[in-house]
Order: sequence, then C-alpha cells, then structure tokens
Amino acid sequence: MNVYDSHRMAMMLENEGYEKTDKQEDADLVLFNTCHIREKAAEKLFSDLGRALIIKNERLERGFDTIIGVAGCVVQAEDEQIFKRAPYVDFAFGPLTYHRLPQILKDIETKKKQNVVDTEFPAESKFDFLPENKALGGCSFLAIQEGCDNFCTYCVVPYTRGVEYSRPVKDVLDEAKKLIETGTLEINLLGQNVNSYHGEDENGKERSLAYLINKLAELDGLKRLRYTTSYPADVTDELILCHKNIGILMPYLHLPVQSGSNKILKLMNRRHTRETYIETVQKLKEANPKLEMSSDFIVGFPFETDEDFEQTLDLVDKIGYIQAFSFKYSKRPGTPAATMDGQVSEKVKKERLDVLQTKLFGLQEKFNISCVGQMFDVLFEQHGRHKGQLIGRTPYMQNVHAAVTGDMMGKIAKVKITNATTNSMEGKVI
Ligand code: 5AD
Ligand code: SF4
Repeated sequence: MNVYDSHRMAMMLENEGYEKTDKQEDADLVLFNTCHIREKAAEKLFSDLGRALIIKNERLERGFDTIIGVAGCVVQAEDEQIFKRAPYVDFAFGPLTYHRLPQILKDIETKKKQNVVDTEFPAESKFDFLPENKALGGCSFLAIQEGCDNFCTYCVVPYTRGVEYSRPVKDVLDEAKKLIETGTLEINLLGQNVNSYHGEDENGKERSLAYLINKLAELDGLKRLRYTTSYPADVTDELILCHKNIGILMPYLHLPVQSGSNKILKLMNRRHTRETYIETVQKLKEANPKLEMSSDFIVGFPFETDEDFEQTLDLVDKIGYIQAFSFKYSKRPGTPAATMDGQVSEKVKKERLDVLQTKLFGLQEKFNISCVGQMFDVLFEQHGRHKGQLIGRTPYMQNVHAAVTGDMMGKIAKVKITNATTNSMEGKVI
C-alpha cells in the first residue's frame, strides 16, 4: 500500500513541476513515506531523518534550501510529536490526507507556514482529488479498499488508516483501464482487508470483491490479476469460485494466518480458527488445484507457550506455504495486546522466529527447486545486474533472472527454469 501511495504522491509532485532524482544531495524536496506496523519501521524513519538533516545542512552551505516532509502512518500515530524529535521537518501528513500535498507544499514554499501537520480523518475520500493514475511498468498496484474494522489486538492499522472504506466500482474500473492503457499487464488490487471490499456500483448497490474481479477480467489487455491482503474469515464461496473460473487470477494467494494456535488466535481477536483456516485453504485448492499459499506469522504474542508455537509449526507443515513473512510480536502503543500480561521475552521470540523462518525458507526453497525444468510465464519488471539480463516474476511471485534479446521490459515471455535457490531462480526465454 505504501508503494502505491508513494507512486500517487510522486505523480502529484510531477504535476507540481518536481522531477525525480536518485541523488538525495540534489533534492529540493525529500518526502519520506512511513510505516508504523512494527516498532522497527518507525525507528528507521528517525535514523533516515537524521541523515536527511546532514544533507540539508550541506546543501544550505552550497546555498540551496531543502524541504523535508514525512507522510504515512508514523505521522498519524505521532502527530505533532514528530516535530519534537525532528524539528527540522517542514511538513507531515497521514495516509488519508496526502491529496492535500500540493496545498501544503505551496504554504511551505512561500514560507506562509512551517511545521505543518495534517492527521485529520477527512470526510472526503482522497481518491476523488488525486490526479489520474498512470502505469510505471507492466505491474501496477491499485488500491480499492483502505482501513480496517477488525481490530486485531496487536495491530495499529485501524488507528492509523481508520475505518474501512471501499472505493466505488466505477472508480476502480476507470483506474484499471487507465493503467492498462499506459502499459500495465498485471494489476494487484490492494486493501488492508481487500476481500471485505464492498464498494458501490453506479446504482448505489454494494458489490463484492468477487464482482469486481469478474468485471476486471472483462477488460481487454489485462493478463494477470492479484489481490492483497485478505482476511481469512472473509473469504466467501463467491470469491473461491473466482479462483476456479477467472483465468487471469494468479494461482497464488497471500492469506495471513498469524498463528496456528486457537488460544492465540482468540487473544489476537482474529475471527478464524486453525480449523476454519485449513478448511478455507482446502476449498481454495479444490477450486484451483494449482493454487499455492503465502502467509504472515507473528511469533511471541503474549501468552504464547512452546505448545502454541508447535501448533504454528504444525500448521505450516499442513498448508505447505511456498512463501511467507514472519515477525516477532512488536508492542504497539494504544493497542490492547501491548498491555496484556504474559509478554514473551525477546530471547524466546528470537528463538521461535529462527525456527519458524528456517522451516518457511526450507519450504520456499523446496518449491523453487521443484520448478526447475518447468516453463512459466514471466512478466519482466526490472533490469538485472548483467547486461541484457532482466528480472521478472512467475505467476507464483518468484523472481526469475533471464537473458533476453530485444525490449522485453514490462512484457510477458515463456521462460524455462534452469536453476533455483530460496530467493530467486534463473531461466531461459523460450
Ligand atoms: N507485531 C508484529 N507483527 C505485526 N504485524 C502487524 N502488527 C504487528 C505487530 N504489532 C504483522 C502481521 C500482519 C503484517 C502486515 O504485519 O503479521 O499481517
Ligand atoms: Fe490489522 Fe489486518 Fe487485523 Fe486489520 S485485519 S487489524 S489490518 S492485522
């Protein structure tokens, strides 16, 4: 979501006459987009800001001003506090008000205001005010839903991105058409809780994610469709059917389970159990036998015992994820879990994370190696390290390096996998 938001902000800045530079020393404006999901992400901002201040001072000696801005969820959580820790920050706004960036910038540039902060939860939707989206390449993100009403006890999202909001069907389809017109072959629909999408159609009728997927599949030129991130309890039979019937829906689904222990899932306020989760995955795999799964895990949640953790390891074996993200539980101020008794020591969290990640990486490597000798459609997205080499993704999101002739960037080619490791694969364009 932050990649998508950053892209939309960059486009707004382009409209304001700014040009992108890869060298921070050359930047008249530096805008950090931030994440508050775990403590580490917030700390990273302040060390990045410290480095930006050094560059700002060096530039000042050369006679150039530098505007420093901060966007995203850290601002929503810290509000004015951000200026206490970093008084040289010129402006800051949360994830729901970035459409106001041009006005804020004007105020700063003309020195009308300083230390501007905007953390309102506005009544208007920012999407109605943003300039049209354009593709950067063959793959694009498209935010269709934002915010969350689930209130998992560890999570800041309901407090930083606010209540659940779904964009109207027409807006989503219009943005998708624009992305396809400007070169997109793959769209990844985004939302913190994307499968609870309930946007209105032109008659004011609420429509589901499954409806939207069916509509998007009718668009000419769209070759691949994904959606991220889903909430297990909201996977409907209608959505499962999409995995059977919609050819462009990729056979890879990120469905975070967080824990394999029902006791922990309850404490997390998740609305699924290990049994309902396994059943959902079974149904999805029946709908599309080629479907593979990915997930998020939290280890060391309050009250997690060795037995609870064993249940998570057991679930991993049962599902056989081909990819996953796993994190040590991180206390987030203001969330219920932060003040729960039964906090787990850092040492135990680390040990459990090591064990879980060894297992997950093992599964990922096994899957990648099983792909050697097989042919996949690869959508090329970036340049590789060697001349003539591009990096693209298979339907399963694996990175593939391949030598190509001609301009294949942003295009799909058939690639035979020749070599694979845990994190990447090599292939030959056929
Ligand atoms: N501590 C650790 N991990 C967290 N996540 C969300 N909040 C926390 C937290 N407080 C993880 C979840 C979620 C992913 C985006 O980040 O696994 O699915
Ligand atoms: Fe956070 Fe996801 Fe739970 Fe919502 S469903 S509270 S975004 S972890």
